[in-house]
Amino acid sequence: MKGVVLAGGLGTRLYPLTKITNKHLLPVYDSPMITYPVECLVKAGITDILVVTGGNNPGDFLRLLGNGRQYGVEHINYAYQEGEGGIAEALALAEAHAACGPVCVVLGDNLVEKTIKSAVDEYKKQGKGAKILLKEVDDPQRFGVPVLAGDKVVRIEEKPRNPASQFAVTGIYMYDFQVFDFIKTLSPSERGELEITDVNNLYINQGSMTWSVLDGWWTDAGTFDSLLKASNLVAAGGANKD
Ligand code: G1P
Repeated sequence: MKGVVLAGGLGTRLYPLTKITNKHLLPVYDSPMITYPVECLVKAGITDILVVTGGNNPGDFLRLLGNGRQYGVEHINYAYQEGEGGIAEALALAEAHAACGPVCVVLGDNLVEKTIKSAVDEYKKQGKGAKILLKEVDDPQRFGVPVLAGDKVVRIEEKPRNPASQFAVTGIYMYDFQVFDFIKTLSPSERGELEITDVNNLYINQGSMTWSVLDGWWTDAGTFDSLLKASNLVAAGGANKD
């Protein structure tokens, strides 16, 4: 399975920090943000990785990650997303990299305490469709939120005012190659982006979406509060642990 780290977008929620560099190059405790999702994939046994950048300073990703060896990556590729067309638009740039196979996608501002290897192994056994990872949070209205009925996910609502559960859909997704056909059918949302939540709902409607709950802490780092929280969590005990 190949890996994709999505590190595009303009990161406007972190202005003025992101006026001068890309959000995913900002420090989270002692390392640039992007190194955590890269390590997350490597620890799960995924070492052929595409980094999709965008916005400011794309050359700095190459300067930081180089050929990826220092981070345990065997093959690294780079792509560039023009503008801010959304997560699903950025993922579309990974079609050639996926080479007809499945992908594990991690958003460049997502951090986890523990390795996701067991979830990746479960998805490999599943063999087709998609898998999402959920985590209980205090502020689900900031995220994609699943509507659950027993052990089924019925749909996902993006940033709902009245969340149907306390779970956030984390930015770690596993997809088969159909994902690229699904993305081609999407239209921009109200915020003018191709939404990953729309992709996930297509898998749910197809009946091929599974989910599990992440072990350990999870956080994004795309707001001032969550960036600080991520740094404090890493400082207190590290990320991507076995
Ligand atoms: C994105 C997704 C959202 C998901 C979140 C996880 O939100 O749209 O469904 O819960 O990432 O970090 P965004 O950061 O683009 O607002």
